[in-house]
Amino acid sequence: MSEQAFTLIQLSDCHVSAQPGTEYRGCQPMNNLARLDPVVRELAPDAIVLSGDVSEDGSAESYRQVAALVEDWGQPIAWLPGNHDERPVMEEVLDRPGFIAGPVCHFGGWQVVLLDSAWHDRPEGELDAERLAPLAELDGDQPALIFVHHQPIAVGSPWIDKYPLVENQRLWERLNARCVKAVAFGHVHQVFEGEHAGIACLSAPSTVANSHRDTPKFTLDESGPGLRWFRLWPDGRWASGVRHA
Ligand SMILES: [Fe+2]
Ligand SMILES: [Fe+2]
Repeated sequence: MSEQAFTLIQLSDCHVSAQPGTEYRGCQPMNNLARLDPVVRELAPDAIVLSGDVSEDGSAESYRQVAALVEDWGQPIAWLPGNHDERPVMEEVLDRPGFIAGPVCHFGGWQVVLLDSAWHDRPEGELDAERLAPLAELDGDQPALIFVHHQPIAVGSPWIDKYPLVENQRLWERLNARCVKAVAFGHVHQVFEGEHAGIACLSAPSTVANSHRDTPKFTLDESGPGLRWFRLWPDGRWASGVRHA
């Protein structure tokens, strides 16, 4: 049995705009993403997941900028859209070597599922039967990690909990804690670690701007850009944590 862990990092909510210098909540998106470089290189990921809101404006140029930086950090790079993204534009720009859209990736003996909860005309997320279909492919005897942009449970911050994954029971009724170890998400721009139905619920901090927790409004947290890492062992053991630049 291999004891080698597969290292995956989750980068979320980069909010890059086409126009260089465009700020997001008073921060520089590409500069802050680039500040993570030493952390990413230390972690030496075997794969990267971009978990949505890669772009602020849905422009091709924003995806090109992120791809050019991130593809140097490790591959494959799996991606899914957030509410600020434009999936057709992402598909076009990220149709390049090293990038994959799943929806089911096989990494280190794990099944890593990329669910698309984004609808271009609204900020909250939803998973309909078609978007949930990849879960039916899962092998119940192999560990699984689910990625989705929107929070599958409330995180306790009213400013973002008003834009949740609606009808979230549709997701939960399809997840079996025997194989699904965690649901990882972005969107909330803060670190959250909880549990639902025996399954861990973990957010990644934004790579550009995060809020203090449990605040009624977005309140900039000076701890800076962050990422979530996972170590996945083929026997189903796993570990996860957060790093800031
Ligand atoms: Fe976001
Ligand atoms: Fe979002």
